[in-house]
Amino acid sequence: MRPRQAIPRLASAAFTSFVELPPVHRLLREGVSESFRQYDRELAWPDAEFFIDQAPPRIWGGVGGDSYTGWIYQQGFFAALIKSHVAGRSLSIVDFGCGYGKLAPVSTFFTGPDGRYLGIDIRQDCVDFCSRHYAALPRVAFHRSGDYNGMYSESRSAELAQSTPEREWPVAPGSVDLVLSVSVFTHLQERQALHYIEAIHRILKPGGLAMLTFHVVEEPRKPPRFRSPDKPHLLELFDFRTALPPSGFFFTSSPQTPEDAIAVNDAGLHLLIDGRFELVSLLRGSTTGGEDPFFQDIAILKKPV
Ligand SMILES: C[S@@+](CC[C@H](N)C(=O)[O-])C[C@H]1O[C@@H](n2cnc3c(N)ncnc32)[C@H](O)[C@@H]1O
Repeated sequence: MRPRQAIPRLASAAFTSFVELPPVHRLLREGVSESFRQYDRELAWPDAEFFIDQAPPRIWGGVGGDSYTGWIYQQGFFAALIKSHVAGRSLSIVDFGCGYGKLAPVSTFFTGPDGRYLGIDIRQDCVDFCSRHYAALPRVAFHRSGDYNGMYSESRSAELAQSTPEREWPVAPGSVDLVLSVSVFTHLQERQALHYIEAIHRILKPGGLAMLTFHVVEEPRKPPRFRSPDKPHLLELFDFRTALPPSGFFFTSSPQTPEDAIAVNDAGLHLLIDGRFELVSLLRGSTTGGEDPFFQDIAILKKPV
């Protein structure tokens, strides 16, 4: 991924692709990663071996800026969330902006025997990686969409940036039980967010659920709840001062490249969901000052029957 010269902070540091690290760092990380994985596997319960075996080899600093702990924790968190909100088996699941496929392994508990998980992403490297790495997992597939994102697209062009998002996901309308999307609406400006919420609404079955993460800011603003004295750039990244057009209900901390980090206020969230979804619950994550055990806010939305 392209390094960001103009914004030398988390958006560059954590989201820099692993492959762009200096060779010596790559070697070190690969070695540490492999040893960690081996030792962890020796001690793990058999159930946990599955997650260790499915974790990408290049887990640190990939497209989701993830750590090993974050990777595994998020799968457990979403497994519990899905189990407690969605009934039945053979679920059809779409993971919008799947990145390196964090939720693909855990999806297999819910898609059997006849459902499927489809990960969609704009990045060819992610889709190629996922298609190879999870080839042995049952009922998972990946699709590269031709859409544009100011932070994540592999090529930058003014023409692409202005293009209307593609409507051609390989998913039939009204066919999906659950749409997951972690850390994607947090990188979408209003026009795109409205487009994708509509697309998600279209593909869901009546009664289907969407679990989408956001940064939902309150007035007066709350600082992030996490304490991270060694990462002051995080406080800057989540300081959503600049309101974005057209509504002014979307905010960024990074006016040069707004997609680096985007928040909505309550009116922005309702602009997206009202008339489309019922808000089942809103979990309040740590980056916007919430008390729930996740880093972003999670909106659980239901398409009315
Ligand atoms: C922060 S990463 C999160 C990845 C993954 N969901 C996770 O939690 O590990 C955001 C992902 O969304 C993808 N993305 C951004 N805009 C997108 C769009 N319009 N359509 C599909 N994927 C998109 C990016 O390429 C990137 O892989």
